[in-house]
Amino acid sequence: MLRVVVMVSGGGTNLQAIMDGVENGTITNTEIVGVISNNKNAYALERARNKGIPARCISPKEFSTREEFNQALLAGVDSYQPDLIVLAGFLVVIPVEMIQKYRNRIINIHPSLIPAFCGTGYYGLKVHEAALSRGVKVVGATVHFVDEGTDTGPIILQKAVEVRPGDTPEVLQRRVMEEAEWVIMPRAIDLIANGKVKAEGGRTVLEA
Ligand code: GAR
Repeated sequence: MLRVVVMVSGGGTNLQAIMDGVENGTITNTEIVGVISNNKNAYALERARNKGIPARCISPKEFSTREEFNQALLAGVDSYQPDLIVLAGFLVVIPVEMIQKYRNRIINIHPSLIPAFCGTGYYGLKVHEAALSRGVKVVGATVHFVDEGTDTGPIILQKAVEVRPGDTPEVLQRRVMEEAEWVIMPRAIDLIANGKVKAEGGRTVLEA
């Protein structure tokens, strides 16, 4: 069984899709062993507790330095002995020690087709605002391994979504979640849990 820790900051709809996937068998060989949020008011924490999954907040506000927070975050993750760390809308920069310790064992969902609309400053609704303001006709989402850069790690899965006339950032965000994020995140976890993803030289190779 793949032991998964999910890290969240907000509503937790991706967490919900993962929990549903484990429950309905879309995701196999996987156990969600813990949920960590930087934000104590994140609804995601409630979603986890409703399912009986251990959930805790580790907030930078509780620490006087970033270094202390980073150490606590790493210790919190380590305490679950995870095989995979899933960033599901986790809007905090991951400590470099965690990236090194869990190389190719941390995945992130980003709400665009990387390399478009990604990197520093592109998160949440801002991604969809930028896409609409550029006038692109196709958007989407990406699941990738996390490396030291921002949204630069090996890409695991992507899915495209059409922009429709009259879309607002909120409407587009919702469509990208429904049609792409909630599909590819559970699929990526299932592929990893079944040994079907290899990272090689900055890319991934997927087994059919
Ligand atoms: C999702 O759209 C996710 O792709 C995005 O935050 C949202 C979290 O929603 N992540 C990023 O922008 C990371 N750069 P959720 O809490 O409902 O899953």
